[in-house]
Amino acid sequence: MNVVNTHITRAKDLLFTSDVARDTAHLYDKVKTVIPEIEWPVFAPLIARINQLKKEKNAVILGHNYMTPEIFHCISDITGDSLALARSAVKVDADMIVMAGVHFMAETAKLLNPAKKVLIPDLGAGCTLAESITPEDVRKLKAQYPGIPVVTYVNTSAAVKAECDICCTSGNAKEIVEGLGVPRVIMLPDEYLALNTAKQVSCEIITWKGRCVVHETFTPQDIRGLRDSNPGVVVLAHPECAPEVVAEADYAGSTAGMVDYVKKFKPRKTVLITECSMSDNVAAEYPELEFVRPCNLCPFMKKIELTNILHTLEAEQHEVTIAPEIAARARVSVERMLTGWKP
Ligand code: 13P
Ligand code: SF4
Repeated sequence: MNVVNTHITRAKDLLFTSDVARDTAHLYDKVKTVIPEIEWPVFAPLIARINQLKKEKNAVILGHNYMTPEIFHCISDITGDSLALARSAVKVDADMIVMAGVHFMAETAKLLNPAKKVLIPDLGAGCTLAESITPEDVRKLKAQYPGIPVVTYVNTSAAVKAECDICCTSGNAKEIVEGLGVPRVIMLPDEYLALNTAKQVSCEIITWKGRCVVHETFTPQDIRGLRDSNPGVVVLAHPECAPEVVAEADYAGSTAGMVDYVKKFKPRKTVLITECSMSDNVAAEYPELEFVRPCNLCPFMKKIELTNILHTLEAEQHEVTIAPEIAARARVSVERMLTGWKP
């Protein structure tokens, strides 16, 4: 029987000893340009304990690009955009997965790893896109547009995925929609991602009114203002931004797409029109490049912290479960995205 030790360590009981300083020095080296030295004694003991617990419990942490640098660079085993996290979840060789991301990402990991324990440090780590649509809404749309394939963004609940034909992410939306080879598709729930994708494909896209609370706030005037105050800056935007914002950018792509752009072109000065922590994580990797950082936090991603990751691992708490009949249908939508499908 698996007996779980539910002792919860208080952060203040973890000390920045000389052993902790030595064992975490290589990790501080990765984030030293974005985390002030004075803050490291607070993070380091938590990081050391989390990394020790991961080994003891054969757990892996999947860290989304929007995690803060101490989570992203110092305790995550696999990092990336939601597509990369879904792809890697299929290959995870561990007993336990901790999702350092939001709830729909944890559900996707669970769909692809039904036998593994999938944990999320805070069950309140939601997403305004996922909340914008219910399974009932999808059933009504399907009745309104019979026979039209339904593509759902992964930023949805498993129950919504179960009603749809195939998933997509911002990293593969164009390929998935085009790959269906049909004249009309329904694309849910992000209206802006759907409108941005519609500009890249030849078929008609029926949209839904979902919005990301982080990306909907950027305006074309913001981009023009950033260019005025930073001559020559390269603007990279997430396709959850409005089409008018994407039109002002030099490139639009998923969070991983933006990282790849920086890696490939190494612009001298870049602004990432997306969540704040992403710029910190990329800046930590490229200290020689300059990043302008207009800050727009995702309140849901920011619910994930070192302290609740530690508690999740210790108590094996906040397990993500999906009713079997929903999971079976939702898994089909996710697997079709990963392996390909035509209606
Ligand atoms: P990515 O798939 O680009 O990582 O986006 C996920 C997300 O939630 C963006 O807001
Ligand atoms: Fe959802 Fe937007 Fe937060 Fe991404 S950034 S998790 S889309 S609310």
